[in-house]
Order: sequence, then structure tokens, then C-alpha cells
Amino acid sequence: MIKISHNFLKKISSFDWSFKRLFFSSRGSALGPSSVFYRFFTLIKPLIAHPSSIPQRDHTRGLGEPGKKQFHDACLFFKIQLPVFPSLLFLFMNTPLTRRHFFQATAASVSLAPLARALEASATLQGSTGPEEIAILNDTHINAELPPGQGSLRVREQHPSNLRQAIREILARVQRPAAVIINGDLATSVGVEADYKAFGELIAPLSEAGLPVHLTLGNHDTREAFLKSFPKLVSASNFKEHRHNGLIDLPNTRLILLDSLKESPAAPGRLGDEQIGWLLSKIDETPQKAVVLVAHHNPKVGGDPLHFPGGVEDTEAFWPEVVKRTQVKAYIHGHVHDWTLAAHTGIHIINTLAVSFVGNPALSTTGWTLASFHPEAVELNIQTTQRAHPWANERKWLFWRQTKRA
Ligand SMILES: [Fe+2]
Repeated sequence: MIKISHNFLKKISSFDWSFKRLFFSSRGSALGPSSVFYRFFTLIKPLIAHPSSIPQRDHTRGLGEPGKKQFHDACLFFKIQLPVFPSLLFLFMNTPLTRRHFFQATAASVSLAPLARALEASATLQGSTGPEEIAILNDTHINAELPPGQGSLRVREQHPSNLRQAIREILARVQRPAAVIINGDLATSVGVEADYKAFGELIAPLSEAGLPVHLTLGNHDTREAFLKSFPKLVSASNFKEHRHNGLIDLPNTRLILLDSLKESPAAPGRLGDEQIGWLLSKIDETPQKAVVLVAHHNPKVGGDPLHFPGGVEDTEAFWPEVVKRTQVKAYIHGHVHDWTLAAHTGIHIINTLAVSFVGNPALSTTGWTLASFHPEAVELNIQTTQRAHPWANERKWLFWRQTKRA
């Protein structure tokens, strides 16, 4: 039997496999060969990368030395999930794989997986969040306080209640995120001042707790009412009257928050030439950092073409320029009310969960996302409103494309 090196096991222990995620989209439809290949490559990247380049979360903070050792030992051997463990085991034992052996090993790995998860969860409770974590919310769709009998139950009760829950969960974290982004469609329909007053009251606990809050605009917002309602908000660009932008500089990552609101409430968005020029200048300022773009609207590349008509109209005007700047690693958007991942020309396209509602609860769900940025990757942690939802606490690593050095 070939001896399995410690480093190899260490790589495997950070390798979070989900068979379903490899072959099926979050909607349950089968993926094409190129998507499967891409996802497979993303999954095996930790196995072929140098150990020092694999971001490791400190799950053991606060456990003490004996607890840390126990945790690492257990995770090293048990974290591997179906069906990687049996496959690799037989591969490295150079043993012919019979059906019986496969099922025996699979059963063993499945029975041990909950132990690893429980250990990880208990350690996470001790506080494993770091300074490069950002909470991402979008599509809160808050309406002005409606008199009884007016507005649907969903608008009157579900939307504010989901937002309150997300804020409670953020504030309850042992180590809080560096900032909170609420990525557009703050209001329900066409964003009047009363809507923003209600929205402002709901999110006030975040600022009161000292958390920086960054807001972007979506197609159900109105820029004038928004700017009147939040007069102290500062835009990162100097054209605040027609675009509200933001910048979040983390030690290894720069997030550039864009204003893609074109006209409320029509679905399509637009960045405009002036904002695109500003965006490129902000990317060029930071050749050493990973750059992540954040906008309410989806780009009209990658992802699901069904949503392209409601995406950023002038995608062609900025996407090729962004692709050339290899420090740009990802584009985060809402608008679609779903949780999906895609990629185009090496850039990850991350569609984060809506806080308020989804079109079909059988296919998607509501919640928010905790994004942990590392020098070479981001880890996404899904926080669903329904705690028993299959996506609850789902974690996904996305590795960055290589930056070309001048
Ligand atoms: Fe939207």
C-alpha cells in the first residue's frame, strides 16, 4: 500500500465534495460537460495546489491546545464525504474496486461524516470568523409600514421579518463581519421616501452595533428618494447625484460596489460610460489585491441566459476590459432571487440569495451570504432563513484565477 503523506491528507481535509453539486445546478437540472468539468476542476484544485496556497480557516480558535489537536486529527481523517473517500482509498491502496468494497467504504465514510461536521460546528461556535468576512444581503424589498389590510401578507410581514432575522444572525456572530452589503432592491416597488424610512429603521441595529453598512441600488429603488432618505451616505465616486458607489478595502481584497439602477421599476440595469471609467480606474489602483465587483444586476455573460434581458445592458462595454485586468476575480449580484454560481472568462459570477422572497420556494429559498475573502479564494457560507433548509450553512470555496504580473 502506498503511504499517504500528511500533506496529501491535509489537502483532502479541505476538500468539500458534494456529488449533487458537481452534476446538477441548484435548480436540479443536469449540467453540460463544460460546467461539470469546470466544477470538477474547482473541486480538485485543493488537491493539486501547494498546501501553503490553500486558505485554512481557523476552526479551533478558543479550543485550547488539546482541543485543537483533537479537532485536527478528527477532521483530517473524517471530513471526506461521499464518494471521494472510498474512491481515493481504493486508488491509493491499488486494490481492485469491487462493488461490495465500494459500498462498505461508502457506508463507513457516510457514518463518519456527521462526526466531522459536528466537530467543525462546535469549533465554529467558538468563533472562527476573520476580518475579511463580509455579510451580503440583497433584495430586501421593504415597503413603508402599511395599515392593516393593505398590501400582501408577504410584503407586510415576511420581508421585514426575514430582514430582521438576517440582522439578528449577523449581530449574534461571535466575531462580526468587517462590513455588511445590502445589494439593491431595498424597496418593494419604486422606492419612495417612506419605504426608505422603514428600511432605515430595520437596518439601524447594524450601525448601532458599529458595523459599516454599504447600500447599492436596484431596479425597485429610486435614486432621488434614496439619496434624500440617507443624506449622510457618502458615495465613493464623485458623481453621487446620479450614481451611488462604494468601496470596501480589505487587507487582501477590494470590493467595488456599483450602481446599476437604470430606471425603476423596469428590470434591466445599466452602468453607463462614466461609471465604467470610474470602475476601471478603481481596479487599476489595486494591482496587488483581488478585486470583486458588486452590483444588484446580473451581467449578461455566464449564468443563466434566461435572466440576461433583465441584466446589465452595457455588459459588453465593461466586461472585456475587466477580463483584461486579471486582479478582478468575481462579480457578485442579486436581482434573480436565487443562489447560483457561474463563471465567464475566468471570473466567478456569484448570484446571492434574496432576503425577502423567491419565485418558487420548491426550487430556491431566502437568506443571506457570509463571504470570507482569502488571498486566493473566497469561501461562501449560505445562511438560509429556514434553518432546516438543505442549503442551510452550505459552504463553497471559489478559487481565483491567476493574476498576471507586469
Ligand atoms: Fe431587482
